Amino acid sequence: RFIGNRSSGQMGYALAHQARDRGAHVILVSTTGQLAPFGVELVPVDTASQMHDAVIEALADADLLLMAAAVADYTPAIRSPHKIKKGESRLTLDLIRTPDILAHVAKLRAPGQLVVGFAAETQGLLENARDKLHQKRLDLIVANDARQAMGSTTNQVTLIFADGHFEEFPVLPKSEVASRILDRLMALPNRHE
Ligand code: CTP
Repeated sequence: RFIGNRSSGQMGYALAHQARDRGAHVILVSTTGQLAPFGVELVPVDTASQMHDAVIEALADADLLLMAAAVADYTPAIRSPHKIKKGESRLTLDLIRTPDILAHVAKLRAPGQLVVGFAAETQGLLENARDKLHQKRLDLIVANDARQAMGSTTNQVTLIFADGHFEEFPVLPKSEVASRILDRLMALPNRHE
C-alpha cells in the first residue's frame, strides 16, 4: 500500500549502461532494487533524503551527474512504527518537502563538472524545462512528458542546453535516448577528457 508514481528507473539504468559502454566509471544511485548493469557500482537507497546524501557524496569525484530520478517532492512528516488503525471517514496526510537534490548540487558543483537534469511535465513542457535548467544551473535539461515517459520503455524528449540551443528527438527506446544524450554530452566543446 503506497501513494506514489509509476517511475520505473529505466532511464537511469539506460544512462548508466551507455556511460559504462563509453568507458566511464559509473555510480548508479537507485531506489528500484534492481541489479546494476555489469561493471556499474550500485548505491541502493530508499528515500529522497538518502538519495540526496549518496549523490552529494559521489559528486565530489564526478565529471558528470545525470539526474534522471523522479524524486518524490514530499514525504510523510511522521513515520508510524505500527499499523495505523482506521478511524474517522477521512484521513489527512501531513507531508513535508524532500531536499531538492539538484538545487543543492548547483551550490556545490565544481567548475568543469557537467550536470544534467530531466524535466517531467504535463503542461508548458519547454517553458517549465527552461526554468528548471536555469534555476538548477544545469548544462542540459531533458524535457519529457511525464504521462508518456513514466513506466514506459520508450520516451520522446527534447534536449535544451545551457547556451539555449535545443534538439527534439522522435519517440525512441530509452536505451537510444540515453545513447544520444551521452553522445551529445561527449561532443560538448569544453568537455574534460
Ligand atoms: N529533482 C531533484 N530533487 C528533487 C526533485 C527533483 O534533484 N527533490 C531533480 C529530478 O531528478 C530532475 C529535476 O530535478 O532531474 C526536475 O525534476 P521534476 O520532477 O521535473 O521537477 P521538480 O524540480 O520536482 O519541480 P516540480 O515538481 O515543481 O515540477
